[in-house]
Amino acid sequence: MRLIVTESYEQSAYLSAQMILDVIREKADALVGLATGTTPLSVYRYMTEAVQQKKADFGKVRTINLDEYIGLSGEDPNSYLYFMRKHLLDACQIPSERIMIPNGMADVQEEIYRMNLFADANPIDVQLLSVGVNGHIGFNEPSDVFYDRYHAVKLAQKTRESNSRLFSSVEEVPTEAITMGAGGIMRAKKIVFLATGDEKLDAMKKILEDGEVTPDCQGTILKFHQDCTIFLDQALAEHIRPASYVEVKRAR
Ligand code: GLP
Repeated sequence: MRLIVTESYEQSAYLSAQMILDVIREKADALVGLATGTTPLSVYRYMTEAVQQKKADFGKVRTINLDEYIGLSGEDPNSYLYFMRKHLLDACQIPSERIMIPNGMADVQEEIYRMNLFADANPIDVQLLSVGVNGHIGFNEPSDVFYDRYHAVKLAQKTRESNSRLFSSVEEVPTEAITMGAGGIMRAKKIVFLATGDEKLDAMKKILEDGEVTPDCQGTILKFHQDCTIFLDQALAEHIRPASYVEVKRAR
């Protein structure tokens, strides 16, 4: 694991975008794993700007998303498909046939099968990742086990409360989701991870400091990833004492 300490969230986002763009420059039809939430927003802005300024070509790029709420259609502004179209996919003119994201309205088991069929045959070249307040990655909630492939999950109350800021009330937040498993995330060739804000401190300490790899904090599995770069701004990083095996650098 590599930790890059930045001056600010904006710098973390800019550098994360550059890492992803570099992968796309190396491989035009790269499969890029995407994440939702407020943390990746500036990453998507920098990626979109690069495409619009012709500094990157997304003409063959394929995307796959970590997760989707069960019960929300792609037309629903709170669905992750809607989010991805709004913040990245439409502006970068990525057509539906190059977008893989679970359909929240489809038969759940059939949808899990469809996602796994694709994921098994198509390795992810670079996966963008952030973390939930309880350490979840994708929607892999604290559990007794790590799941391997896409599966359905019941959302933790803490997650529903945290994500309710985007809905009108916590009751409106779906109770279930389809998510890529921690195993699928671990198979991405490269992981670009960023986090910001005090509410993520606890999870980031468990991920970066000495301590066990535990499904109770799913992000800790990243300790075993061969190519995981974590961007944290100084304000968050200063409270963390990374384990000795974490390569720590300051962003320039
Ligand atoms: C959701 C997503 C996660 C994301 C998390 C954090 O729960 N399923 O993939 O990491 O939100 O969101 P935010 O960046 O808004 O804190």
